Amino acid sequence: MRGVLVVLACLFASFSPLACNQQGSIPEGDLLVLTVATQETDGFRRFLRSAKHFNYTIKVLGRGETWKGGDYMSPPGGGQKVRLLKSALEDIQDENRVILFVDSYDVIFSSGPRELLKKFQQAKHRVVFSAETLIWPDRHLEDKHPHVREGKRFLGAGGFIGYAPNLKKMLLDWSGADSESDQLHFTKIYINPEKRKSINITLDNKCRLFQNLHGALDEVVLKFEDGRVRARNVLYDTLPVIIHGNGPTKLQINYLGNYIPNLWTFETGCTICNENLRSLSGLQESEYPVVVIGIFIQQPTPFVTVFFERLLNLKYPKNRLQLFIYNQESHHEPHVRTFLEYHESEYQGVKLIGPEEGIDPVTSRNIGFDMCRDNIDCEYFFSVDVDVVLKNEDTLRILIELNKPFIAPMMTKPGLLWTNFWGALSADGYYARSEDYVDIVQGHRVGLWNVPYVSHIFLMKADVLRTDLKDPDLFESATLDPDMAFCSKVRNKGVFMFVTNVHTYGRVLSTENYQTNHLHNDLWQVFENPVEWEERYIHENYSKVLKDGFIETPCPDVYWFPVFTDVACKHLIEEMEHFGQWSGGGNTDNRIQGGYENVPTIDIHMNQVGYEKEWHKFLLDYVAPVTEKMYPGYYTRAQFDLAFVVRYKPDEQPALRPHHDASTFTINIALNQVGIDYQGGGCRFLRYNCSIDAPRRGWALMHPGRLTHYHEGLPTVEGVRYIVVSFVDP
Ligand SMILES: *[C@@H]1O[C@H](CO)[C@@H](O)[C@H](O)[C@H]1NC(C)=O
Ligand SMILES: *[C@@H]1O[C@H](CO)[C@@H](O)[C@H](O)[C@H]1NC(C)=O
Ligand SMILES: *[C@@H]1O[C@H](CO)[C@@H](O)[C@H](O)[C@H]1NC(C)=O
Ligand SMILES: *[C@@H]1O[C@H](CO)[C@@H](O)[C@H](O)[C@H]1NC(C)=O
Repeated sequence: MRGVLVVLACLFASFSPLACNQQGSIPEGDLLVLTVATQETDGFRRFLRSAKHFNYTIKVLGRGETWKGGDYMSPPGGGQKVRLLKSALEDIQDENRVILFVDSYDVIFSSGPRELLKKFQQAKHRVVFSAETLIWPDRHLEDKHPHVREGKRFLGAGGFIGYAPNLKKMLLDWSGADSESDQLHFTKIYINPEKRKSINITLDNKCRLFQNLHGALDEVVLKFEDGRVRARNVLYDTLPVIIHGNGPTKLQINYLGNYIPNLWTFETGCTICNENLRSLSGLQESEYPVVVIGIFIQQPTPFVTVFFERLLNLKYPKNRLQLFIYNQESHHEPHVRTFLEYHESEYQGVKLIGPEEGIDPVTSRNIGFDMCRDNIDCEYFFSVDVDVVLKNEDTLRILIELNKPFIAPMMTKPGLLWTNFWGALSADGYYARSEDYVDIVQGHRVGLWNVPYVSHIFLMKADVLRTDLKDPDLFESATLDPDMAFCSKVRNKGVFMFVTNVHTYGRVLSTENYQTNHLHNDLWQVFENPVEWEERYIHENYSKVLKDGFIETPCPDVYWFPVFTDVACKHLIEEMEHFGQWSGGGNTDNRIQGGYENVPTIDIHMNQVGYEKEWHKFLLDYVAPVTEKMYPGYYTRAQFDLAFVVRYKPDEQPALRPHHDASTFTINIALNQVGIDYQGGGCRFLRYNCSIDAPRRGWALMHPGRLTHYHEGLPTVEGVRYIVVSFVDP
């Protein structure tokens, strides 16, 4: 009856200050946390971090053992835990020792030992179990449970605290197998009135110590306070110390675990973003980890050539990179071929699967994983879908340095709340929005986020691929799409999928409405992917035109400014030559109203190549603002009767005689380079006897069309000159 002696000693606390100091509060040094973890999962690391944060003393049982206790997917189980606890308790002789026994993979501490022990004492029992709303695993035992006036009635074995001698008593007659239910064992003791009394067990009915999340999701909210975060039970108005994502609440504990105890707070921002990094700085090139980059082309996608340009620009030694390219689209074969022709030899290795091989997307992903799994040098697999616009050249380095088994950079779509991750899942496994989703997308919360779904781009450690994720059926599911099936498997293996939004990394393209019937289909993307279109086709100094007046006036009321990139000029010329139906240059022209052209040129109209809507959008977005700036008070709707590419050639049509344009104003953009592509050329305004005889590629001339600006096209004497002209009215 030693337990009684201790109790008596505490009643006379003033005489026994050592055993029960400060009016009987338990010294923190008496507390020992025991937990079972056979593997060092991400969940276990999260648990340890929170324990360390509060200075808990932890002993981990079962390390390196194979887990035989079942899991929440196949209940019941947990006997292994009881066996390990029982043998650990045998070594503990100190009668005052208080043991907290908790699970670890899905448990987080939200406060420290002092508060835990205080609440334990306030429970006035020698053993306190966490409580549950739901009874499990044997519902027939319901009636045997003592009634409670308020709070939860059933026992949860995932967390309990008690004096070592009492716990020993509880385990005395355990001889169960590892696969038996720990919960059932403890429940049977609890519902037995004698045992309950002699061991002195109670339940933490109102979640003052333990919050089990199963059946209690509505009760729990995050509480931010003075640089720390904890969970608040709003039903009982309590602040539980230990949060347990038991049963099917792994997503919720992951969500809470993004904050509790201090991972992200309003005061500090992200506190874990610089923890446990793997620094690459100072490494020799040959010391960089080998990465297999898996590139997946699974639908016709705009800007594929840009994708490969960005890949080349990644700041990472190419001789430490291997490429796995899966291309399902014959449309993109020339793009892939061109890239490989010039750059294959720079990489450590390249494997290409083309459309002719008829390999399905899921198989291709497995083959890509295998390329890393089977190469003992491979340390990471970096999966990138071709519709990713990887703007940040440091992305791969940053992700490696974050040192997580699975990490994705947040990718957005301009102007939308769309990203490549989901913050939550609906009951049927599809998209749901987490409470913090918008804040994360908009950068109000910046950090590392453990989320249930990630797509398009992610980095995985090879050892995860070789162990937890070694199965070839990662993408298979009876009900879910392959990407969702994959995420679900990753989650169920206990691998956390982190998303980082600490830096900006890039965007994801829209692949909708992508036509493949032109030579340079990207030119048509001004509606669907306006940001990428602008980056590709609008001159880098165009923005200065409006801001800093980066604009020249070579002749009176003639404005000259940069608008197209070299690529835009090249694509426009090539598109027209590809189309090839140049007009004959005669006065009869049935492409226009009336069928008669007074000042004919050799040209192709935008509507002949189906580009008039796009051209109008270009005029509206990029030319109209300049017009309004230079001709104040004049507002254009950028409507045009004619827009066309003109070809001047000495042996075809070298020049154009003086004329007025049928426009309010005219835009004339030079598409190639004088001195290189042709000699001669230019434009002369007769009234002012003023010539622009060295046109600049990509620069637009803008001038009034009628009355004042009577002009001529000066002769091209060598080579071929191209310009694109439009008559805007009004
Ligand atoms: C944990 O211990 C360290 C020193 O051992 C101390 O600086 C820190 O404040 C303690 N943390 C808490 C939450 O008590
Ligand atoms: C349980 O233990 C507490 C002190 O830890 C004591 O006050 C109480 O009387 C005990 N209850 C029973 C039924 O023994
Ligand atoms: C843009 O302007 C800067 C400075 O005015 C110049 O150095 C640069 O070459 C220009 N860019 C292009 C593409 O012409
Ligand atoms: C037009 O300008 C050129 C030089 O730019 C000059 O030689 C010529 O005389 C001028 N003609 C008239 C009519 O002013």
